[in-house]
Amino acid sequence: MDVKERIVAELTAARDRSFGLTVEALEAPELTSQVSPLMSPLVWDLAHIGNYEEQWLLRAAAGAAAVRPDIDDIYDAFEHPRAERPSLPLLSPAESRAYVTTVRQRVLDSLEKVPLVGALTENGFVYHMVIQHEHQHDETMLATHQLRKGAPALLDPPGADSVIGDTIAAEVLVPGGPFLMGTSDDPWAYDNERPGHTVDVPSFHIDTAPVGNAAYAAFIEAGGYQDPRWWHPKGWEWGSASGKEAPAFWHREGGQWLRRRLGRVEPVPLDEPVQHVCWYEADAYARWAGKRLPTEAEWEKAASWDPVAERKRRLPWGDSGEAGDHANLGQRRLHPAPLGSYPGGASAYGVRQLIGDVWEWTSSDFTAYPGFRAFPYREYSEVFFGGDYKILKGGSWATHPLSGRATFRNWDHPIRRQIFSGFRCARDA
Ligand code: AVJ
Ligand code: FE
Repeated sequence: MDVKERIVAELTAARDRSFGLTVEALEAPELTSQVSPLMSPLVWDLAHIGNYEEQWLLRAAAGAAAVRPDIDDIYDAFEHPRAERPSLPLLSPAESRAYVTTVRQRVLDSLEKVPLVGALTENGFVYHMVIQHEHQHDETMLATHQLRKGAPALLDPPGADSVIGDTIAAEVLVPGGPFLMGTSDDPWAYDNERPGHTVDVPSFHIDTAPVGNAAYAAFIEAGGYQDPRWWHPKGWEWGSASGKEAPAFWHREGGQWLRRRLGRVEPVPLDEPVQHVCWYEADAYARWAGKRLPTEAEWEKAASWDPVAERKRRLPWGDSGEAGDHANLGQRRLHPAPLGSYPGGASAYGVRQLIGDVWEWTSSDFTAYPGFRAFPYREYSEVFFGGDYKILKGGSWATHPLSGRATFRNWDHPIRRQIFSGFRCARDA
């Protein structure tokens, strides 16, 4: 497949996914109402995806006429915070579907005539940006599905979960030394992943797997939520003020932990990575365990550095390869895979389940790499640098494989836990 054929295929797949989470999953009132002030009405996400595509692929890349410049403001994420979005004069579900379909048709019609030369379109850059944007909003829509009340709207796909590997050491040593962080040449990378640069990382130990539900439940049983010794002062304030005592969506019934997952109540599977914990919870658990969260550089080195070849891999297991054989990504399952899954997805250091399953909180703040240049717009990354955000790495079961790469940088406030977030621990060597 050449670059343009790949673009057409990926645009089409992204749209099937978006419709499957919106107009094909739910009826009008649930599409237009808001389940939480943290989330947009699903119909806002859908038309916003189309409006972003109109601005970047039609107007900017193809130099084509605008379709609906009158709605730019409504779907501008900076003009209107999420809490405000349900009160905007949004397109209806049917209008949204028609709008995004019109935009898409014009994009496909224009593609042949757009030369992939110049910074915006070179190697397909802006198309890749828009495709990943749609998938990122699809993951956000899944968080909205997780928060909504009512009967399940999404079905667990049939088939076996994954292949469980052999039991391995709980942690590995990553010897000190330089590695290449970020990338200068990945045609799918966002501006915040660039440029690639050398970082010298001192020796550290890192867990070979994310922290599981059994281990996290032990932290709860040990009174972890009631002991300020383990908590960052702001985390203690967050937890004690709101009476937190378990991950989001967990509750206890007759001595057993249950969770609500996409409208179903089920026992918490003790062998899955914990998810729906905020940074403060991850940080507290790590301290209780006598460890700490990895820095972003430690995480990325453990995930992508090949110490024998002395070169970086795009993915833990190599530069390419079907993510599906190596990681639980792309909504193939609607939950993290059990610990020990995907032994073939291990990194050169033998660290597993780095990509997929759950986003992993790191101790690092979201800041620019040396030599960073905002491209093609400041509001993707730059305006968030230095804010109250922690970096998450690796993607979750809900993240599309196109964004499931070692250099991808996600960020969120340290109190957020409606996202598919977990963590693993590290410690000094
Ligand atoms: C990278 C996931 C933090 O959803 O706020 C979507 C991605 N940027 N539209 C977000 C994004 C513009 C962003 N995150
Ligand atoms: Fe967006």
